[in-house]
Amino acid sequence: MSVKIFDTPEVQDFLKTVSGFDQSGGNERAKQIMHRLLSDLYRLVDDYDVTPEEFWSSVSVLNALGEGTQFGLLAPGLGFDHYLDMRMDAEDKQRGLSGGTPRTIEGPLYVAGAPEAEGFARMDDGTDSGAEVMWLTGQVRDVDGQPVTGAKVEIWHADSKGGYSFFDPSQSEYNLRRTIITDSQGRYTARSIIPSGYGVPEGCATDQVLKLLGRHGQRPAHIHYFISAPGHKHLTTQINLAGDPYTFDDFAFATREELVIEGRRIEDPAEADKRGLEGPFTEVVFDVELARTDAPELQHRHKRPRALESEEAESQQASQAKV
Ligand SMILES: [Fe+2]
Repeated sequence: MSVKIFDTPEVQDFLKTVSGFDQSGGNERAKQIMHRLLSDLYRLVDDYDVTPEEFWSSVSVLNALGEGTQFGLLAPGLGFDHYLDMRMDAEDKQRGLSGGTPRTIEGPLYVAGAPEAEGFARMDDGTDSGAEVMWLTGQVRDVDGQPVTGAKVEIWHADSKGGYSFFDPSQSEYNLRRTIITDSQGRYTARSIIPSGYGVPEGCATDQVLKLLGRHGQRPAHIHYFISAPGHKHLTTQINLAGDPYTFDDFAFATREELVIEGRRIEDPAEADKRGLEGPFTEVVFDVELARTDAPELQHRHKRPRALESEEAESQQASQAKV
């Protein structure tokens, strides 16, 4: 039986009470947002005639997501991370700050405090023996094409099995995580390994939600970046390696056309030798263009819980999350 009670004065008054409108304490913005959120959900219950069974099974899914610290994994799957990017793109446009390499989602797996190097770093610990060697390099430039010397390039990516150090305890500390400061030509170079794409764990709460939507939870092979330099807009981005079956079908919606990079397999021993490598390798070139800004708040990454960056982050680490 379908009933419609949302618009009755009784329900509307009830929503105000539930949201603390008649209380002097609390936080005004929280009250307003909670009121709006609850109103939308109450209306949804009315409109879709949600049964008590359906409601309580949703509560079970939320509990399972929380227990597995998976909200940070489901959020990009439901497009929230990309939506926030779209809003920041629109804000940049409004400020006249367009141009530069596009941003894309951070994901929850950054770990603060990676070793820092000038110009070049080796990122892998040498234990991923079956992995293809990756020579990752590029130049950081401003919008006029001038090299940006001393830019901070933070890079992190998964291993050949799709796992990230810190979250995957089998890997060594800071494996596949480095900060490289660009040289006098604005260049950074890393020796690493080609990462693998990966999927959300089979059967986990995130997987269950995606399956309800008829969707998969796979990501293509990708490499995360933070790039910053004084006087320039901080850039959070990722590159997706071309040729992965999920390059243009990423469950986290991080792929952007300009950020798809084709690796080049190099088998010439002379080229390997030049780089101090012993066999064939894949070179990945990612040049970065930073937009200029004088606004200090735009020169740094925005705040959010991050591993080893704040105490708050410690309680939010997503041990299973892979984004
Ligand atoms: Fe990732």
